[in-house]
Amino acid sequence: MVRIPALRRMASLLLTPLEPEDVLSLVNPLSSHRQLRGVVTKVTRETPESRTIHFRPGRGWNPHDAGQWARIGVEIDGVRHWRSYSLSAPAGADPAITVTAIGFVSTELVRRTKVGDILFLDVPQGDFVLPQHPRPLLMLTAGSGLTPVMSMIRTLVPRRPDADVVLVHSARTRDDALFHDELLELADQFPGLKVVHWFTREAQGRRLDLTDATDLETVCPDWRGRAAYACGPADFLDAATALWDRAAAEGAAEATTALTIERFAPVLLPGAGGEGGRVTFEKSDKVVDAPGDCTLLDAGEQAGVVMPSGCRMGICRSCLTPLVAGQVRDLRTGEVHGEEGELIQTCINAAAGPVHLDI
Ligand SMILES: Cc1cc2nc3c(=O)[nH]c(=O)nc-3n(C[C@H](O)[C@H](O)[C@H](O)COP(=O)(O)OP(=O)(O)OC[C@H]3O[C@@H](n4cnc5c(N)ncnc54)[C@H](O)[C@@H]3O)c2cc1C
Ligand code: FES
Repeated sequence: MVRIPALRRMASLLLTPLEPEDVLSLVNPLSSHRQLRGVVTKVTRETPESRTIHFRPGRGWNPHDAGQWARIGVEIDGVRHWRSYSLSAPAGADPAITVTAIGFVSTELVRRTKVGDILFLDVPQGDFVLPQHPRPLLMLTAGSGLTPVMSMIRTLVPRRPDADVVLVHSARTRDDALFHDELLELADQFPGLKVVHWFTREAQGRRLDLTDATDLETVCPDWRGRAAYACGPADFLDAATALWDRAAAEGAAEATTALTIERFAPVLLPGAGGEGGRVTFEKSDKVVDAPGDCTLLDAGEQAGVVMPSGCRMGICRSCLTPLVAGQVRDLRTGEVHGEEGELIQTCINAAAGPVHLDI
């Protein structure tokens, strides 16, 4: 058997200018120490627009907690793009992501991923995870927001006879509903899981209305006493947050602390963008006039700059880029800031006048 260090030395001597890691990655694509990778082992069709992509990660991956997410890098036309995806597999199992095609990278993943493909990876992270001590749970999800919650249900329900989970999942139609049959089977098999599907274009024919408690009282009368987890589109989460805040103000003390939410996109302050400005990407030798509501990340990518990125919502800090000159506006708060050398989160900041970035 050829030992890896020997092979690495051999590769180093025989092949230049390739680095030894590059050679090893030809032999075993998961071997790179520079960049964590995974090989796709299975692709499952979930809905017409969604696929679950199972992968075997290389060395350096940490097992995920149910509900966590990972940054996934995909090469499209020679450019590596990073997006974040919740891990839908139960804790303890090989990881999988469930992707719904809504834009550039997700559509590529859904349409083109096949067994044997290599994914670039970052380790699992996130604190949208099950509570430490068992308690009655309410899961409120819509669309692809079911993904992290599915990991929680798959982890908890079959393993804990004392599990008490109500899942209320909203989708347009039964065909669009992720994991539909599996959820009904789990609910049949385990009395600790109750599943309510809310179909906005079929059975119920309208959106789940969270502007007051009426719909929630119907599907889960004891919702106030449950630890709640919500994941879905921004307006769904905003309405849930407001409802829980009102319940807390009205004295349902449990509701004050019991809603945990996971967002797939940042909350921007309406009208936070100002006039924008000319952005110079110095190392890339690109200049672009960016509107005030356009993130520096989007502006750079549109100009063809290879920008570092991850969550694209201000939480992972993968996009930090040094500011050379100028000021930027945080689109979540409207705050204008910027000092020479400051590391800027390009995914949530826009130009506030002329900006020079060291990239
Ligand atoms: C912590 C986290 C976990 C995530 N988990 C998943 C997951 O399990 N499955 C999944 O399919 N996606 C998930 N996403 C969203 C994912 O990272 C991408 O944003 C999404 O796939 C769109 O990327 P794109 O390149 O296809 O779209 P782009 O071309 O980049 O643009 C699409 C636009 O849609 C917005 N957007 C992002 N997510 C949604 C959504 N769900 N519904 C409507 N608009 C959206 C983006 O902000 C962007 O403005 C997650 C995001 C985060 C931050
Ligand atoms: S990409 Fe995650 S913080 Fe900017």
